[in-house]
Amino acid sequence: MEVNAYKTRNTILLGLFLLAALLSSAFLYMQSEHNETAVTTPAADTIYLDETQPIDARVADLLSYMTLEEKIGQMTLVEKNSLKHPNDIAAYHLGGLLSGAGAKPEVNTPAGWKEMIDGYQTEASATRLGIPLLYGADAIHGHAHVPGATVFPHAIGLGATGNLELVQAVAQATAREMLATGVNWSYSPNLDIPQDIRWGRVYEAFSDDSELVSKLGAAYVKGLQSEADDGVFVLATPKHYLGLGSMGWNSSQNKNFKIDQGVTPANDMSLRRVYLPPFKAAIEAGALSIMVGLNTWGDERMVLQKELLTDVLKSELGFKGFLVSDWYGVHEGRVNTFWATVQAINAGVDMVMLPFDYEQFTKHVKWANQLGLISDERINDAASRILYAKFEQGLFDEEKDAVQLSEVGSAANRALARTAVAESLVLLKNEDTVLPLSPQTAHIRVAGSAADNIGRQMGAWSIEWQGIDGNWPAGATSILKGIEDRVSPATLVEYNLQGEFAGGKKADVGIAVVGEKPYAEGWGDTEYPVLSDEDLQTIKNLQVNSEKVVVIIVSGRPLLITNEVESFDALLAAWLPGSEGAGVADVLFGDKSFTGTLPLPWPSHAEQLPITTAGDTSDGTAVLFPRYFGLKNKQIN
Ligand code: BGC
Ligand code: BGC
Repeated sequence: MEVNAYKTRNTILLGLFLLAALLSSAFLYMQSEHNETAVTTPAADTIYLDETQPIDARVADLLSYMTLEEKIGQMTLVEKNSLKHPNDIAAYHLGGLLSGAGAKPEVNTPAGWKEMIDGYQTEASATRLGIPLLYGADAIHGHAHVPGATVFPHAIGLGATGNLELVQAVAQATAREMLATGVNWSYSPNLDIPQDIRWGRVYEAFSDDSELVSKLGAAYVKGLQSEADDGVFVLATPKHYLGLGSMGWNSSQNKNFKIDQGVTPANDMSLRRVYLPPFKAAIEAGALSIMVGLNTWGDERMVLQKELLTDVLKSELGFKGFLVSDWYGVHEGRVNTFWATVQAINAGVDMVMLPFDYEQFTKHVKWANQLGLISDERINDAASRILYAKFEQGLFDEEKDAVQLSEVGSAANRALARTAVAESLVLLKNEDTVLPLSPQTAHIRVAGSAADNIGRQMGAWSIEWQGIDGNWPAGATSILKGIEDRVSPATLVEYNLQGEFAGGKKADVGIAVVGEKPYAEGWGDTEYPVLSDEDLQTIKNLQVNSEKVVVIIVSGRPLLITNEVESFDALLAAWLPGSEGAGVADVLFGDKSFTGTLPLPWPSHAEQLPITTAGDTSDGTAVLFPRYFGLKNKQIN
């Protein structure tokens, strides 16, 4: 449908609706006495508080006590920075709160997080029914917004490892660090399937291979929700449903972003064949909340696609959990926020993420219900699904062994992250077997924008939404430090950002650690993903003053390097390794062998984009390195 026709239709509907609302409010006002639900208070031994009762019975019991407002409250997810007053948790019966990326407590420490969230939970538990809150965060590569937490490689690096057990362990360690700070809900794993490296969210995804994404996504869900093992259950949220990654570059897109939040062109078959299977696998692995994407499919936003949300996901795939909308996705760009809310909830969204106006949302849902625009059944269904997840997670039950704050950034978790880094490295070129390097090498020169910069090696969604630049937080190890720590005491390691070293003899080896500045979401959409002029100059400088040059690319996606790669002696893709830069040295110096493979094809030029999931380039030419390419070498130490 044309956008204008759509708007006209909406305006007419709005007019009709306002008229109806006026008449009905008057009517309801006169009838109000009859509409009051009797508020009954549950006895201490009621079913929903009894851990031994089946979950469906507990949900039904709790629901039977709930007023309309309390049910709507469960459907309300508020960004914590927009919470006007902590009392609103009780006043609006809120179902959940979240920290939007970078939204932190006043004291931004693990203890500060715990104190803040405990405070919110206290508000919730003091309510009549004492329903615990879900507290959500984007722990997409560890609990990385918390200073001092272990930051694991971004998903693309995990995809390069292809190691299911490792990914499950990473998710479990992440869950433990989250629970230590009171966060019980993660907006991960990301199951997007990127087909165009110009997109700013490529690194959030494991791969462009639906099968690998399905396997790793399921492993990740199990890791977050591994309650059977030790009481650790962080609710996973596979995202973004459905078709994210299929959007191509669109220069006429009427937005800041040229790919992100765009239109999914995938036809029905490819949505089902390529994009749906990872969600199916995640549901089978126990996923109980799924996030609906900000994309459009056909001429309708994803949040309005009833067939995909309700018929396919809930009915066909038997998803028993709840659907949460993404950020401002229900309301953004809609003049009529009332109508937007009604449509999204009727399409199947159960919990609405509200970065801004939650008071208006609760009012709107209530009116819509009173006007018969959202049925009692739909509200009961939405609230029940959310409660089902909370019961399944054990939120109502006594906590067994609370995870201690010392878990955040623990030595064990950092060691796991270091292993993940080592396994994620992909060796793309190794002329004359330059690698592995001997730790006894006499003279090494290190340079490049990502060599001594923890912010760059962590990438975005670390501390801040768009990431940070520089060497903090404490506890992390830069790639340079990892190299310095590994070499023999006799080795001279020199570092200079631009690779400028004063005259004399050439070094035995130069290591250029180059790459991208952090970026998140559409801010990372870029027409030509390439190395910066500074980084290219740095490589050239090293090539003049070192015998051999090893290039390490720290980036969220393959970069276009076809013209330069000829001159590199060795090349490895390190993705966005996170806080444990020492994992790079482990492989560089042969303590471990290279095992990683490319989780997606590495294009040779921009005209090849997008590349289909079958590996076909847009211009029919061959890529620089195909998916699953990765040289092997021997471990020497
Ligand atoms: C992103 C989601 C994220 C949410 C909450 C959105 O902008 O698209 O991936 O989970 O914000 O921070
Ligand atoms: C928030 C992110 C969110 C983004 C959406 C930012 O302000 O911090 O969590 O994903 O907005 O555009």
